[in-house]
Amino acid sequence: MSIKQNSVYQIYVKSFADSNGNGVGDLQGIIAKLDHIAGLGVSHVWLTPIYPSPMKDNGYDVSDYCAINPLFGTMADFDLLMAEATKRGLKIMLDMVLNHSSTEHEWFKRALAGEKKYQDYYIFKQTPAPDQLPTNWVSKFGGPAWSFAPEVGQHYLHLFDRTQADLNWENPELREELFAIVNFWLAKGVKGLRFDVINLISKPEKFEDDHAGDGRRFYTDGPRIHSYLKELHARTFGNITDCLTVGEMSSTSIANCIGYSLASEKELSMVFTFHHLKVDYAHGNKWTLAPLDFLGMKKLFNEWQTQMQAGGGVNALFWSNHDQPRVVSRFGDDTTFHYQSSTMLAVAQYLMDGVPYIYQGEEIGMANAYFTSIDQYGDVESLNYFKELTKTMSESQALAILAAKSRDNGRTPVCWDETAGHGFTSGTPWLPFSARAGQISAKKDKASQNSVYRFFKQILQLRQEYPVFVEGVYAQVACDHATVYTFTRKSANATALVLCNFAAHDSVLTLPEILPAQLVLNNYSEYQGQGKQITLHPYQVLVWHS
Ligand code: GLC
Repeated sequence: MSIKQNSVYQIYVKSFADSNGNGVGDLQGIIAKLDHIAGLGVSHVWLTPIYPSPMKDNGYDVSDYCAINPLFGTMADFDLLMAEATKRGLKIMLDMVLNHSSTEHEWFKRALAGEKKYQDYYIFKQTPAPDQLPTNWVSKFGGPAWSFAPEVGQHYLHLFDRTQADLNWENPELREELFAIVNFWLAKGVKGLRFDVINLISKPEKFEDDHAGDGRRFYTDGPRIHSYLKELHARTFGNITDCLTVGEMSSTSIANCIGYSLASEKELSMVFTFHHLKVDYAHGNKWTLAPLDFLGMKKLFNEWQTQMQAGGGVNALFWSNHDQPRVVSRFGDDTTFHYQSSTMLAVAQYLMDGVPYIYQGEEIGMANAYFTSIDQYGDVESLNYFKELTKTMSESQALAILAAKSRDNGRTPVCWDETAGHGFTSGTPWLPFSARAGQISAKKDKASQNSVYRFFKQILQLRQEYPVFVEGVYAQVACDHATVYTFTRKSANATALVLCNFAAHDSVLTLPEILPAQLVLNNYSEYQGQGKQITLHPYQVLVWHS
């Protein structure tokens, strides 16, 4: 079976479904919703970190890698989840956060207590004075990437929050510990692994100031990254044939991603990359408001699709995850054309070459949070940047930026129905519901003639029914069209054509070739076209196959 026949549903555990009324999603909550997920036709369910954690970064700060966070349940709940998922033909993918651990992890505590062995698990550097930093690198969550630990009189590196200390992959003993962790979960029958910010694990030999940037060029796709991944593969999942792996690759390159995901390199099955989600950043800065650079986005799709395909690399196909705003609010229209734009965006992404990832709530068109006060936010990155932004702008300007860019947009609890707790909880949710909660719920969507959920299901069915969507060569058409994204997929005996109108108005397109025979997907009841000329309705998507 080709890797690309898989598709993954991502669960942000804290916000998915709460079974015990404490306002936080949990494993039993997931079990209760497995039919909803299986009904979509996905092969895997990715759970964001379920391990014990002080939750400074909602579980991406792990304090014990081989146990279950009591907030989410017990190991028995996990075993039951595995069994219930298997019954429904679903495989479980776990999140491996191996670039850093929580500073509450036993290893870090023992490092601070003076144990040399554990100090070598992290990256400590001595400087002449506490206020002098080892380098000028910037943390991805704002502020310096180093914090001083008075216990040992040294600074430790943290590319993320100060409570997320970077691990020293140079140390073979540390690597052994990490392989044992991965093997612990594989032994439990886990069939998928998502490796968090994995292309940041190889730090440079020499730590020096970055006079041209924030330091990332020294540790992104670092010097030994490919050899570490080959070792990880060989020592853990390499001999499990049906284990799907995906690496989260920050600020990476196509050449590296081919290396990461080409089967013969024996590293990972596929990669997440983010260039296509930086198309509404002014000057590369996330914390700005800028319109979508549509032509820029199409150009990126073209480059990544064609070059990865030519090189044998595998893309994860996604718009949304727990770190991104909701795509229907971001690149679509979450009111007037809610159904049309939710479904069009899904096709634009999932019929490209790669493996589709659906993020919880995307399949019912969940919208941004529309928070209006800083008190509604919980995300460490958003709170840090609010402080940074308000140094140079008013609070209301900063709030407008957060409303568009905050990770909490994707983290509001899933709305299952229209009751007070929206079927998510019988208590008070840990994060407020989206302001659009009253209008968008799974129950409402499934009862509607225009169901986003059913359309998602159809997209995944198309991928199963027509091999061209799995193996066909991708080519972009009408690259300069200002509102329509068009591509073909071609194999020896089949052709598919996909037309996506990204505008809230009609778009006219003249095709370079005659349409393939059969219209197989349309999010309207008809379309207007004659010969090569097509007029697409607002956010209309059309897919042909022959
Ligand atoms: C990844 C995760 C994100 C987390 C960060 C640090 O980007 O997706 O949620 O904050 O890594 O672990």
